[in-house]
Amino acid sequence: MIKVNDNFCKLPAGYLFSEVARRIDAYRKSHPEAEIIRMGIGDVTCPICQAAVDAMHRAADDQLSVFTFHGYGPEQGYSFLREKIAEYDYKRRGISIGIDEIFISDGAKSDTGNIGDILSSDCKVAVTDPVYPVYVDTNVMSGRGGELIDDRWSRIEYLPCTAENDFIPALPVGNPDIIYLCYPNNPTGTTLTRDQLSEWVEYAIAHKALIMFDSAYEAYITSPDVPHSIYEIPGAEKVAIEFRSYSKTAGFTGLRCGYTVVPKALKGYDSTGAEVSLNALWNRRQCTKFNGASYIVQRAAEALYTPKGMKQVRETIDYYMRNAKVLREGLAEAGLQVFGGIDAPYIWIKTPGGMSSWDFFDLLLSKCNVAGTPGSGFGPSGEGYFRLTAFGRYENTVEAVERLKKLEF
Ligand code: MLT
Repeated sequence: MIKVNDNFCKLPAGYLFSEVARRIDAYRKSHPEAEIIRMGIGDVTCPICQAAVDAMHRAADDQLSVFTFHGYGPEQGYSFLREKIAEYDYKRRGISIGIDEIFISDGAKSDTGNIGDILSSDCKVAVTDPVYPVYVDTNVMSGRGGELIDDRWSRIEYLPCTAENDFIPALPVGNPDIIYLCYPNNPTGTTLTRDQLSEWVEYAIAHKALIMFDSAYEAYITSPDVPHSIYEIPGAEKVAIEFRSYSKTAGFTGLRCGYTVVPKALKGYDSTGAEVSLNALWNRRQCTKFNGASYIVQRAAEALYTPKGMKQVRETIDYYMRNAKVLREGLAEAGLQVFGGIDAPYIWIKTPGGMSSWDFFDLLLSKCNVAGTPGSGFGPSGEGYFRLTAFGRYENTVEAVERLKKLEF
């Protein structure tokens, strides 16, 4: 008999972005003439920068020669890339991270999903709400969710982030073992200041909790008091794992490359209470289940740290942040209440007149042919909100705002 993992059967049918795509496709089929502007899933539209493409061409040529060919690489990633990360992403911000604390992967989505492999299914989880659905769904898959009751998993603590609390989550009350934080935040586009993040690190130290810190949108930070890495906060290396991605930084959503930092100072406990290194467990997990990101892609990522690469990446980020400004200002002029978009490529909109998130989705799709993501898809506190991304083409972003302005909220 083929017995399945019951936890998967507990999950609602569709993953959020697949469901959004399904509804857009259905609308397109019934309205083939509609010119839909897609601002739903945060997929990038600018091409990959020249420095990275040149590096990939060279790396592809390496594969032609017996002397430069690369087969299996290190499961943890090539040192040429890990050294750049340690130097540019950490040392230059005053943070000391060893290259053996850095694990290259095929992206933050996989890593934030897979990391739960090394943690007990008994662990209690807390998430900010609304939240990137991968954190919740993967914990449900591993048996940490409990039961779904009224849109909430019974074993997961939800920390609401709404306009009422300025999107600043209160510290947990349920003594969670694992806390997911994503800053700059997906989906709300809001941030935590250094002082605010320090409170979380202090909490985690005091409660022996682990913070999963997703900083996939770090490159979009413009405010000086917003930390780029959780390790800017003293003591964080004892309580936090950090996830980074080249997807939104450098347009690698299709290429796939990111990395995870698991500090050696970070310890968990086995069922006898003995201390265990999470770095050692993650290394063991990766060596068994992962053969490393591809050589060509890692060479592309390495090129992002060259002066040319850094300049080209900055230009692309500026392009998207110009879109964010157009959205923020244009939608506010249209009479909508908007949040985010200053340190992040996401605009979080309060739906007008108490409309539900999915009703607003339908309204925008049918009346403006603009597709976004319903806030309720990110969790119960996302109900009554709606997300648009700044990752579109500039002309489309301007056009979307013009279309929305005609709705008269
Ligand atoms: C999003 O739209 O939230 C992201 O693009 C999803 C992802 O990074 O997997």
